[in-house]
Amino acid sequence: MRDENLVELCHRAVFLQRSAYPRISFVEELPRYPVVRSCDGRQIGQAVTNILQNAVDAIEGRDAPVDGSLPQGKIVVRLLAGASGGAVVEVADNGRGLPQQGRERLTEPYVTTRTKGTGLGLAIVKKIMEDHGGDLVLDDNLGGGAVVRLVFVESSGREAAHGSSAIAAKSVAHGS
Ligand SMILES: Nc1ncnc2c1ncn2[C@@H]1O[C@H](COP(=O)(O)OP(=O)(O)OP(=O)(O)O)[C@@H](O)[C@H]1O
Ligand SMILES: [Mg+2]
Repeated sequence: MRDENLVELCHRAVFLQRSAYPRISFVEELPRYPVVRSCDGRQIGQAVTNILQNAVDAIEGRDAPVDGSLPQGKIVVRLLAGASGGAVVEVADNGRGLPQQGRERLTEPYVTTRTKGTGLGLAIVKKIMEDHGGDLVLDDNLGGGAVVRLVFVESSGREAAHGSSAIAAKSVAHGS
């Protein structure tokens, strides 16, 4: 795996979706500095694209209220970088929200609530994140919609680089 700038990967994925869906407002809350992590850039780009696509689908799948007024679709993409190598890519939308029933199965292959869905999008994202030692987390967005997080944990390589201090801190925490 190569060193990749997660800011650049997120920005590129948003750029493509923004050109495809000009009516949706895409807000990028990305650090102004590079966030470099060892990963497969093509796969992580694919993962971000898949969750952006789901956010778009959730917005386009909203039911119009009786008076016909729907707020503008909005997708916020955040990248939070931890000093010790952890990072989170967060995609929050104001779409129809995650289904109440069967949520824990949404990341399994072929599970879909969309008539034209294959149900493979999140299964692929989950596999990619697991292959990177990370995680995929689905949640409700405050005020409606969903928030989906790609979690990158502190990499062992980076931990090794700061190994002595990390181990020292752990021993203190365990009182040994
Ligand atoms: N942002 C979201 N808001 C609401 N529901 C979501 C969101 N993301 C995923 N889901 C739910 O998870 C299900 C599975 O998503 P997944 O991407 O795996 O498949 P899909 O989008 O249905 O089909 P495909 O990705 O193949 O087009 C969706 O059908 C939807 O019910
Ligand atoms: Mg999908």
